[in-house]
Amino acid sequence: MKKIAVIGFGFMGVTHAKNILANKNLELCAIIDNRENIFAGIENTGNHGDLDLPLAELYRVPIFKTLKECVNKTQPDAALICVPLFLHYDLTKKALNLELDVLLEKPFCAEPGQCQELIELAERKKRLLMVAHCIRFAPEWEFLTECIRDKRYGELKLLSTTRICGEPTWGIWQDKKIKNTCGGALMDLLIHDIDFANYCLGRPEDIKLNLNIEEYWELELKYKDQPAKISIKGGFLYRHTAFASEYAATFENGSIRFSTLQPGIIEVSTDTGAVSSRFTGNMYNSELEYFAKCIRERNNPEKCLPESSKQAIEICNEIRNLNKKFSAVQAIPDAKTSASN
Ligand SMILES: NC(=O)c1ccc[n+]([C@@H]2O[C@H](COP(=O)([O-])OP(=O)(O)OC[C@H]3O[C@@H](n4cnc5c(N)ncnc54)[C@H](O)[C@@H]3O)[C@@H](O)[C@H]2O)c1
Repeated sequence: MKKIAVIGFGFMGVTHAKNILANKNLELCAIIDNRENIFAGIENTGNHGDLDLPLAELYRVPIFKTLKECVNKTQPDAALICVPLFLHYDLTKKALNLELDVLLEKPFCAEPGQCQELIELAERKKRLLMVAHCIRFAPEWEFLTECIRDKRYGELKLLSTTRICGEPTWGIWQDKKIKNTCGGALMDLLIHDIDFANYCLGRPEDIKLNLNIEEYWELELKYKDQPAKISIKGGFLYRHTAFASEYAATFENGSIRFSTLQPGIIEVSTDTGAVSSRFTGNMYNSELEYFAKCIRERNNPEKCLPESSKQAIEICNEIRNLNKKFSAVQAIPDAKTSASN
């Protein structure tokens, strides 16, 4: 039985805490959060609706204000870190230095240099470090990964993803100063799809920014040795817009479509017609189960290595740089119009 301490008891912290309690191989040995009343409003935090939390069990878990105090009192094996991005580097460093394995919520850290430092620290400390890129563990996305890899419908020609929701309204997002450090829709939301593209196809050779309006982005990725092109679209719309993520993948001999608006259903179209298949399973549970197996067996998290999570950060930074150029080009007045004025 491995003991896990959850750091940050907001939307993702409570989601993971609930899943740890339901996992027979794990013990939720502590919750660490620096708020006074960590249970206030937790049932309806986030954008997944009612979280159906096992409150009676959660109330029994020891609560600490700092990781050090928690380690002294409860000796966890691992920390599951679910705090705002600006704390990812410091808290992960602390946890690794306290000899804990770490599952860190995405995005890794704002700067690739910080990611690299943590990767090296984990290696030196012989601790496991995994960044929670959950869609790698979602059954609908796992099916797509298999189709891309085993080419059962031929080569992938196009993968188009869309991920949209209202700007988050809960927890840290209500504090404007902290919100500005969260990486915006690109690093907080679209990083899921950027990471997935990396996972399946490697690092893109060319990234094109086709559209950026405030927190909405349209990106195009191309690869050196692959015919496939990737289109990633989405971002934060007005507050309270319902969350939806979808993909459409087209191969030489078929297409696959999925949308969270029809959870668990994937439609595959080939020459013989369209077939809908049902998929079950919860990505956060599978992700946790995978991490638990890695720490139990002392295996590197090959399915989600921190090096590739760092790559997703590098790509986001590249896109931000493109955006600066893109905005500069948009700002240049049309030559003819200026001349006639
Ligand atoms: N994988 C996903 O689907 C998904 C979804 C949402 C958020 N996230 C990620 O999870 C992380 C947290 O986001 P959230 O939506 O849960 O935020 P949240 O605001 O709901 O929760 C953050 C919690 O961290 C606590 N906290 C702040 N400083 C702390 C400190 N020094 N020590 C201990 N606790 C501290 C806050 O009190 C709060 O309870 C972010 O990195 C975000 O990108 C992932």
